[in-house]
Amino acid sequence: MSYNIAIDGPAGAGKSTIAKLVAKKCGYIYVDTGAMYRAMALYLLRTGVDISDRAAIAKACQNADISIAYQKGEQVVLLNGENVNAYLRTEEVGNMASVSSAVPEVRKKLVELQQELAAKEDVVMDGRDIGTVVLPNADVKVYLTASTHTRAMRRFLELQEKGQVADLEKIEADIADRDYRDMHRETSPLRQAEDAVLVDSSEMTIEQVVERILSLCR
Ligand code: C5P
Repeated sequence: MSYNIAIDGPAGAGKSTIAKLVAKKCGYIYVDTGAMYRAMALYLLRTGVDISDRAAIAKACQNADISIAYQKGEQVVLLNGENVNAYLRTEEVGNMASVSSAVPEVRKKLVELQQELAAKEDVVMDGRDIGTVVLPNADVKVYLTASTHTRAMRRFLELQEKGQVADLEKIEADIADRDYRDMHRETSPLRQAEDAVLVDSSEMTIEQVVERILSLCR
């Protein structure tokens, strides 16, 4: 049986940074499920589907074949065979992902892929519904969060570091909107699983959060 660690939480809580470090320490595979939803969103943006038309999204997503591979330890998302990693981290794709991920057909397809991976390998998987829906029997479940302001500030600094122009107020508003959509959608809303451990990283360093999760695994 493979060992599965599930990390859920809202946008910008530091899930991917933390999950990657935990995976490295444990020698497990890191699975970024947000990147899969982003790849699907990229496909939908490229095909020009009307984002308010759920039926059109449900139909179009059937033509997107999403898979993942690992190159030098990094997760690579393949969209119909193309490595699309370079296109996934924009605000446009993130906002589209939070809309299209509410469509049940999109979720069904990606959840199956995630479950297959976790059944085969020891994984640290991060997302919104990992502990509640994808891996309800995960060995360790963490709900990682931080205040909206802290999360917006972190994203702001990240963008600034990359030399991109960033507007803190707009980032904070986008994060709040995305949280609202993720928490209030009908299918698999973001919520803490009953048996998940709540970790609020607002006042914690990355190392402290990693150590906390490793202590839960011991
Ligand atoms: O985590 P990330 O910001 O990359 O996720 C992008 C979007 O994908 C989220 O806002 C959320 O709507 C969706 N998502 C999801 N379920 C997951 C992972 C991500 O609905 N397991």
